[in-house]
Parts: sequence; C-alpha cells; structure tokens
Amino acid sequence: MTRATMRDIPTPDVSFASAAGLPAVYVKGACKAYGSKEVLHDVSLTIDRGEVVSLIGPSGAGKSTMLRCLTLLDTFDSGTLAYGALQVTSHDERGRAIYDKRTSHEARMRFGIVFQSFNLFPHYTVMQNVCDAPVVVQGRAVDEVEAEARALLARLDLTEHADKVPCELSGGQQQRVAICRALAMRPQVIYFDEATSALDPKLTADMHRLIRELAADGMAVGIVTHEMGFAREASDRICFLLDGRIVEQGTPDEVMVSPRDPRVRAFLAMTED
Ligand SMILES: Nc1ncnc2c1ncn2[C@@H]1O[C@H](COP(=O)(O)OP(=O)(O)OP(=O)(O)O)[C@@H](O)[C@H]1O
Ligand SMILES: [Mg+2]
Repeated sequence: MTRATMRDIPTPDVSFASAAGLPAVYVKGACKAYGSKEVLHDVSLTIDRGEVVSLIGPSGAGKSTMLRCLTLLDTFDSGTLAYGALQVTSHDERGRAIYDKRTSHEARMRFGIVFQSFNLFPHYTVMQNVCDAPVVVQGRAVDEVEAEARALLARLDLTEHADKVPCELSGGQQQRVAICRALAMRPQVIYFDEATSALDPKLTADMHRLIRELAADGMAVGIVTHEMGFAREASDRICFLLDGRIVEQGTPDEVMVSPRDPRVRAFLAMTED
C-alpha cells in the first residue's frame, strides 16, 4: 500500500464528526484484546479542535488502554486511528490494524501527553525537561526552543523554578512542568491522564482554567479521569466507557445528570458524595 493511500482521509462518521473539517483525533471501530480478554470493543471517538473530551468510567473499563493506544504506547488490534488528515492505521486483508513506523512518528508530533506520574527526567532541570524533545526529536533550533520554553514557564508560573530539578518541586509544580514539556512540542492535541488527582482545590481550579484556555487556543484536549466533578466542569463532551464500550456520550449534563444507560446511572449514584 502506498503512503498516499495510507494517508487517505478516513470516512467521517457523521454521528460524531463536526461539520467544520476533520477532527483532530478520530477513532473508529477500535478493538483491543490482551490474550483472550477483550478490553476495547468497537470504540469510536473523536475530538475536534478546540474541544475538551473526557473519558470516564469504572476501574477496569479500558480507559488507560484507550489512552495508551491513542498515544501509540500500545496498538489497537483493529479499527482506524487518525490525527487530522494523517491516518495512522492501515489494515491487512483480515482487517487487523497495521502501524507504519514513519506515520507513527509523524503522529507523535501531533499530540502531547501529561502522565499521571509526570515522567519527568529526574536529573534534568525544568528547562532541560521542557526543551529536550523539541530540540532532540523535532530538531528545532535551541535558541528558539528556549525562548518558547521561557514563555511557557512564565505562563504556568514556573519562571523561578527553571533551573531546579523535579525533586525540588511540589507535585503541582511538577505537573505544570509536564504540561510545559508537552506544549513545547506545539501539539495539536494534548492528553491528560488523571489531570487533577495530585492537586488541591485551588490548583484543580487553575488546571480547569488552563484546559479551557488551551481549548480556546484551538487545541483538542483529551482527559482520562476518575474525577467526575472535574470532568463535568472541564469538558465539552464526556464519553462513558464500560467494559470496553462507550455506552454513553454527550454533554456533561446529558451524561452525568440524565444518563439513559442504567449502568451509567448506577455508577454515578455510587460516586456521588
Ligand atoms: N498489559 C495488560 N495485559 C493484560 N491485561 C491488561 C493489560 N493492561 C490492562 N489489562 C486489562 O484490561 C482491562 C482494562 O484495563 P485499563 O487499565 O485500561 O482500565 P482503566 O479503565 O484504566 O481502569 P482504572 O480506572 O483502574 O485505571 C483490565 O481488565 C485490565 O486488567
Ligand atoms: Mg487506568
């Protein structure tokens, strides 16, 4: 199959895709099994530019698996994954997903991820953590990257910490460094794994504001979280994953106030304070 064919724009799924062009993230019919255990079944999901989408659901539902596959730390067994017009997956004659190395590399340039455990390099300063990938992976000029990094650190209130190493920072500060590091790659999409689990209410509110700002800048934001209150406040759309299927999706009110699926109602009732 030629690269031109592989990059063919996927058929938009009209039930999800916005009228204004291709979504930043497009997943159609994704399946994933570990051995005989099916973890994701026919999952379809999009995130538009400027949209915040949260993936919620009980433990074991498949949220982290989905995030790992979206960020190419793992692979879907079948289904389509595209970032904008870049179709990441092609398919063999049995319909199994094929990942091409170069296309995967290009896709990685389009998204950033803020891990729950931040995954900062412990022996690098804040500045080095933020500048490393843009210089080493993207091959951009050091001066330009450093100037952009300073602006990002200022935006996230980290200027005074630029020369510290991660262990000299609080959890909230480390998280903001991880966000700067993701943004330094100029991604079109940013994913957060449990964005607020380490944060107090003030920092959670700051995170909410930052996520809304990123979306207002036109970024697509994907969040995987246990925290229903945060998902409800921060999201334009919520997808509820249960046993590897998206059983409900809609606005926060549609999913969290008046869900149609009784299993979602039961789960939400359990998580109410
Ligand atoms: N590498 C793996 N090998 C085998 N099974 C796995 C693997 N990773 C996940 N699973 C299984 O897949 C299912 C979904 O796991 P996943 O971590 O995606 O759930 P989750 O929704 O993120 O849960 P939690 O809210 O507890 O983080 C679980 O049954 C889990 O045991
Ligand atoms: Mg998880």
